Amino acid sequence: MLPTDDLKKISFTRSIRDGDLVIVYERHDVMKAVKVCENSTFQNRFGMFKHSDWIGKPFGSKVLSNKGGFVYLLAPTPELWTLVLSHRTQILYIADISFVIMFLEIVPGCLILESGTGSGSLTTSLARAVAPTGHVYTFDFHEQRAASAREDFEKTGLTSLVTVGVRDVQGQGFPEEFVGLADSVFLDLPQPWLAIPSAERMLKQDGVLCSFSPCIEQVQRSAETLRSKFTDIRTFEVLLRTYEVREGKTESSQVEGGGSVELPPCKKRVRSKEANDTNGDSSTVMVRPCSEARGHTGYLTFARLRCLS
Ligand SMILES: C[S@@+](CC[C@H](N)C(=O)[O-])C[C@H]1O[C@@H](n2cnc3c(N)ncnc32)[C@H](O)[C@@H]1O
Repeated sequence: MLPTDDLKKISFTRSIRDGDLVIVYERHDVMKAVKVCENSTFQNRFGMFKHSDWIGKPFGSKVLSNKGGFVYLLAPTPELWTLVLSHRTQILYIADISFVIMFLEIVPGCLILESGTGSGSLTTSLARAVAPTGHVYTFDFHEQRAASAREDFEKTGLTSLVTVGVRDVQGQGFPEEFVGLADSVFLDLPQPWLAIPSAERMLKQDGVLCSFSPCIEQVQRSAETLRSKFTDIRTFEVLLRTYEVREGKTESSQVEGGGSVELPPCKKRVRSKEANDTNGDSSTVMVRPCSEARGHTGYLTFARLRCLS
């Protein structure tokens, strides 16, 4: 749940309470969302952790297990939620999400229309971006997916910012009650061109639409449809390169003649001078590209509604 302060504003500075959702962080690739429950425990390979020890601690605290192991208790930000949520569909990840929020010009108070909801990965970030006075109306034609998304938004404390509707947006378009009210529209649908005429009617003058599609053929067809009523049509593919940063020892190897050479452990290396000076250890910080970096996710096509006058 996005923690709120006494005035119901999202706040990551307050302490953990009974009933809060926290992200139990072992490593950047080992995290779990856990609801804090005074009498419960959390078990992992480092031992057993009592939830009662977590209550009252600030988000970000390091907490110990019965065996002296530790984890961090992090606030369930949209960035972390995207990494731990249950995947009921393909989802949008942080690189695409950040780009969408920037290019759709989403700020507090905006009214956003989205379809499909999928696993709610993007919706969670949209909700935080429009908080505290805006709203996200998201539609999926799959009833069970919509219901699961609603449950997730309850868990993450977003119900006042998000409404989930069950609707075939490709067939019926967005509900008429939103005509001319949307600051932006986001589509992640298999045939987005079918929903574009409706999206156009929903947008305020100068509003921006974004469509996410994994295949370039979908992009071409959407762009064809966009041409009649939209301007500034642009497509992006966001490719993220992630680097791993870790402490390590410089490896040495003997060479003929008795000397030794240092093997370059990675692309960039920063010596830990203090460590070298004090104990002669060759400790380094190693920075290298992650082997499991994500490649192509999809294409983001943006277009601005053409002004009539
Ligand atoms: C790839 S998922 C969306 C993932 C979402 N962007 C996220 O980040 O979690 C696509 C969703 O579109 C929904 N969908 C497909 N056709 C639809 C239609 N005609 N109307 C509404 N939703 C539809 C599917 O049920 C699916 O949940």
